[in-house]
Amino acid sequence: MNEEAILELQKVSHAFGPLLALDDVSLTIAPGELVCLVGPSGCGKTTLLRVAAGLEELQQGGIAIDGRTVAGRGAHMPPEERGVGLVFQDYALFPHLSVLDNVGFGLRGQPAAQRRMRSLEILEQLGVAGLARNFPHTLSGGQQQRVALARALAPKPRLMLLDEPFSDLDARLRERVRDETLHLLKKAAAASLIVTHDPDEAMFMAERIAVMRAGRIVQLGRPAEIYLHPTNAFVASLFSEVNRIDGVVSGGGVETPFGILDAKHLADGTEVQVLIRPEALKLAWAGEGEADLNVGRVVTARMLGRSTLIHLHLGHFNGRPLHLHSRVPGYVAFAEGDDVTVGLDISQAFVFPRDDPT
Ligand SMILES: Nc1ncnc2c1ncn2[C@@H]1O[C@H](COP(=O)(O)OP(=O)(O)O)[C@@H](O)[C@H]1O
Ligand SMILES: [Mg+2]
Repeated sequence: MNEEAILELQKVSHAFGPLLALDDVSLTIAPGELVCLVGPSGCGKTTLLRVAAGLEELQQGGIAIDGRTVAGRGAHMPPEERGVGLVFQDYALFPHLSVLDNVGFGLRGQPAAQRRMRSLEILEQLGVAGLARNFPHTLSGGQQQRVALARALAPKPRLMLLDEPFSDLDARLRERVRDETLHLLKKAAAASLIVTHDPDEAMFMAERIAVMRAGRIVQLGRPAEIYLHPTNAFVASLFSEVNRIDGVVSGGGVETPFGILDAKHLADGTEVQVLIRPEALKLAWAGEGEADLNVGRVVTARMLGRSTLIHLHLGHFNGRPLHLHSRVPGYVAFAEGDDVTVGLDISQAFVFPRDDPT
């Protein structure tokens, strides 16, 4: 057991009948650390959170919270004794209790005056103290989300578990609420595990990201590590659109229109997919660039707001026309029919076996 960790999952597996929802999952969260669990719908994120919270009885493995074994080795501590703050997608506020009483619910056992003071204090921090007497059905989605967060944080848990806490909010409000939540969780110094199916949200919130696929954590690391050094095709293609070029490893490398890319980690003869992030394709109007660069033609360009996406035709490769996407920050006035030179930033091109699932 890791004495320093706030949450430690050791080799947790969980089945629903024949379906293995969690397959040998290990994860450790340090005090005050914010970890995001990201993956597609159905990959087991909610199950992992429910098992950690004790809402689902542990079937295999071990769980320790704040240095104490709470499940496994014969232990099963009930959820309310685990000292964990929970926030779910649907907020699950008690409809018959006022906002103040909802927040005070987690403080049962404390003197009434103290409960009231702490509840008001945390509502104040979240900017919703003015709603203390309201009932949940009168609140907007954003307000309900804040109240749910206040209720979870009121007892000052050392561990917060949040399941898609922003997914019911529309886009602009979601950005604001998750920004507030990030700062609030850091201020509360609670170790947090936040589940999301949105990779951008994970990048925004997390100090470390655990990427899950089909019940397994397939990569765990800081956002920059995950984005710049994905260890498999699934992770590489989760965080952005990617261009794909097929090839075969020969002499430790793979041939592409941009020269030979290193593939020493794979045996000669391996059929591979080269995944290239759109921002790795560097464009310039032909004539300005180096003579040894590829020349392509702009098929169409779209200003997307923060960036411009350029669709390119880059001759033929492996006997097929090569259509690539390049993404450039801000607005760049490339237009249909423009001839452009195309260079590759190889640090954003990844070589994986072709049968590696994306
Ligand atoms: N109570 C349950 N009974 C049967 N199958 C379940 C139950 N809960 C979840 N599952 C299944 O387990 C898998 C993982 O579900 P879940 O943890 O909810 O995924 P996620 O939160 O990543 O969308 C899914 O295939 C889901 O259908
Ligand atoms: Mg879920």
